[in-house]
Amino acid sequence: MIQTITAASAAFDRGIFPVTARPMASRTVTQIVKTSMRPSSARSIGDAVFGSCRGSFAEYALSAADKIARKPERLSFEQAAGIAVAGTMALNGLRDHAQLRDGQRVAITGATGGVGSFAVQIAKAYGADVTAVCRTENVELARELGADHVFDYTRDDYLRGDRYDAIFDNGGGRSLRELRRALAPGGVVVLNCGQDISLALAGVLARLIRRRGDVKQFVRKVTRPDLLELAALAEDGRLTPVVDRTYPLAETRAAMTYLMARHPRGKVVVTL
Ligand SMILES: NC(=O)c1ccc[n+]([C@@H]2O[C@H](COP(=O)([O-])OP(=O)(O)OC[C@H]3O[C@@H](n4cnc5c(N)ncnc54)[C@H](OP(=O)(O)O)[C@@H]3O)[C@@H](O)[C@H]2O)c1
Repeated sequence: MIQTITAASAAFDRGIFPVTARPMASRTVTQIVKTSMRPSSARSIGDAVFGSCRGSFAEYALSAADKIARKPERLSFEQAAGIAVAGTMALNGLRDHAQLRDGQRVAITGATGGVGSFAVQIAKAYGADVTAVCRTENVELARELGADHVFDYTRDDYLRGDRYDAIFDNGGGRSLRELRRALAPGGVVVLNCGQDISLALAGVLARLIRRRGDVKQFVRKVTRPDLLELAALAEDGRLTPVVDRTYPLAETRAAMTYLMARHPRGKVVVTL
């Protein structure tokens, strides 16, 4: 059992169709108050941890030992709240599906949002040349996150001219055809824009029916090894979560409304 201190929700949790959205699951930074974990995986009572569990918009919640890890000391509780899911999505998308390597060129859309703000930093940690795509207000933040090139999508087209080894699409809005055309030979499009139904369907068709190996879609899975990798990046200063706003628990509805507008800068955090 864990005592929740801060919690954050991912975009997917708010529902693909906004009309059905509800804060059903949340990710949390907590303190262990009771443990029934096996000795090999147990954390101690009182340990500050971060990780994933359902229903963490509450004072107490239950989590599994393989879904939590010790909170990096360098980070505040607010900063650590958003790592587990958004950080895992960025790590899974770039490391596992794009198989990003040192020196490769990657374009990241939604680069200053929940997932994208982690993705830009992780891609830099993996040695990539990073092109961030965001709107005008977020250009400076994208640079601060470490992007080598920044495109303001309201003015410039990041798909025109340049070729990428990987496109990690968190923003949506462009067709699969356009995305694939901007790939270098052997490149891959990793679709992570669950809100963009037409693109998601095109991705499924491309992968399953047309057997396109250059299109990937995935559902993130929070695992302890990935939490430890993210914590290590945070501890050595290569990953610093961006917190846009914090809301008290009583204002969770306002937090979700803000999140659903689709333009957060980093994560929206609920404090308890
Ligand atoms: N694969 C999975 O398991 C999984 C799990 C959870 C979520 N997701 C999906 O991952 C995606 C990203 O999640 P998130 O938490 O990062 O969302 P988020 O924090 O709401 O960020 C959304 C981003 O999209 C950008 N955006 C909004 N409208 C745009 C447009 N018209 N053109 C280009 N970019 C636009 C925004 O950039 P600006 O603010 O700069 O406009 C923002 O950075 C979502 O679509 C979500 O459904 C996938």
